Amino acid sequence: MSEHSSRTVLITGASRGLGLALARKLAGEGWTLIVDARGSEALEAARAELAELTHVVAIPGDVNDEEHRRALGRAAHEVGGLDALVNNASILGPSPQPNLLDYPLDVLEEVYRTNVISPLALVQTLWDELKPGARILNITSDAGVEPYPGWGGYGSSKAALEHLSAILAAENPSLRVYRVDPGDMRTQMHQEAFPDEDISDRPLPEESVPGLLELLTGDLPSRRYEARALTQASKG
Ligand SMILES: NC(=O)c1ccc[n+]([C@@H]2O[C@H](COP(=O)([O-])OP(=O)(O)OC[C@H]3O[C@@H](n4cnc5c(N)ncnc54)[C@H](OP(=O)(O)O)[C@@H]3O)[C@@H](O)[C@H]2O)c1
Repeated sequence: MSEHSSRTVLITGASRGLGLALARKLAGEGWTLIVDARGSEALEAARAELAELTHVVAIPGDVNDEEHRRALGRAAHEVGGLDALVNNASILGPSPQPNLLDYPLDVLEEVYRTNVISPLALVQTLWDELKPGARILNITSDAGVEPYPGWGGYGSSKAALEHLSAILAAENPSLRVYRVDPGDMRTQMHQEAFPDEDISDRPLPEESVPGLLELLTGDLPSRRYEARALTQASKG
């Protein structure tokens, strides 16, 4: 058995929030991890913690940067390929979020690039590193389905990611491509979305992790899932 014979996952945006919560869970279960984020200090803190539990490769960088994506591809190759890619890194856009008529278009382009184009770019870059039966989890949002006023930039980017995921699944029936709404979570992004609100009543991201684990390890068909409903269903 090689040094890296455990299951391997690449999680983008794993320095905090849902990405870090998922990385912690998978590290505890012995998965080999490849993780990234732009902020190198927070990523290094995450790496040091996760490295107590498993083999972890942390590469600071921006998913929008092609050279960074290539570095992730090389890391995936070096660990012997991927059992899963979790496209989790995402940005909200301006906080507070402007209505569409006032939305700065340069920022909208950045939101689309980060939330839609780069997840696809990563799938393209990592395609040859995906092992048979590998799963792609694209983290979306209820804002990608419901037309909440004020959520036009982020929401429409997540709607695009939803549809892109569905088509990717239809084009590649041998692969599992999941689009997953994690639900509201008490994270930095959620605080940015509700800048003047006390968000302490929102569930922690850890509560969305069991549903993601079900998708990573179960045998569910490619389609849209709500992470927390998945585990409620298996309890009931
Ligand atoms: N929180 C919610 O209520 C909620 C609800 C529905 C869906 N979601 C979705 O759940 C996922 C996780 O959200 P979260 O709330 O955990 O967000 P978060 O706390 O803001 O964490 C986002 C992570 O992604 C990284 N990141 C952002 N842009 C990046 C880039 N261009 N390149 C590389 N890494 C990048 C961040 O680190 P750096 O900033 O250092 O790069 C951080 O590690 C996202 O896809 C989000 O859209 C969240």
